[in-house]
Amino acid sequence: MIHPNHVAIIMDGNGRWGIKNFNNRAKGHEYGVKNIKPIIEFCISNKIKNLTLYALSKDNFLKRKKKELKNIFYLFEKYFNKQKTFFEKKKINLFFIGENTGLPNNIKKIMSSINKKSDIKNINLNLCIAFNYSSKLEIIKSFKKTLSQNKSFNTKNIQKNLFTGKINDPEIIIRTGGMNRLSDFLLWQSAYSEIYFVKTLWPDFTVRKLKNILTQFNTIKRNFGA
Ligand code: IPE
Ligand code: IPE
Ligand code: MG
Repeated sequence: MIHPNHVAIIMDGNGRWGIKNFNNRAKGHEYGVKNIKPIIEFCISNKIKNLTLYALSKDNFLKRKKKELKNIFYLFEKYFNKQKTFFEKKKINLFFIGENTGLPNNIKKIMSSINKKSDIKNINLNLCIAFNYSSKLEIIKSFKKTLSQNKSFNTKNIQKNLFTGKINDPEIIIRTGGMNRLSDFLLWQSAYSEIYFVKTLWPDFTVRKLKNILTQFNTIKRNFGA
């Protein structure tokens, strides 16, 4: 089986899972976070080099209730503090894409200290977390950066100046939770991605389900317009 180089996942459905199982949306986010590790470990053991996870959109940050966001930030801080040694031991290069303006200071600090350490050499996996992320804003920023570098607006330059600049576009994008949309995620990078919309809510998404998608992916011929 040929494994993709880059898998991206829109981890949707936490709230509904929490309501269904505990009558509590917050529980859904808690179990959603727990579901990340087995997916990371699967990617490492199958030599999938890049994994991008959509954890919070810019619109989530702007439109979700304060209480829900507070809980998400709490889980974020706990998770990245607790998993530090796991990431180091597994040689995972962790980095964030998205805006940090407006986020609480403790979250900004975690994001920037992790991004500073980010190093693409000698690693098993690039783990990219999209947090307070908007693909439209990312594209605008890339154009602005390209302009400031006095470079021309061609695909290569714009691509390089995206937050995801150093990594290849995802061959596969998975969205859990049953909605058939991208919700402002990797709009540029998804030009030729295979997109899998699955009904499973994120906390119930297993490695087995990921394997099924990879098997399907192997039957597909990608043409890139040819
Ligand atoms: C996705 O789950 C995670 C975040 C947006 C933080 P949701 O919170 O959107 O869960 P549903 O879609 O309401 O079930
Ligand atoms: C997209 O899910 C963002 C993440 C999963 C992080 P949403 O639940 O915010 O998407 P919409 O609002 O249903 O499109
Ligand atoms: Mg949702």
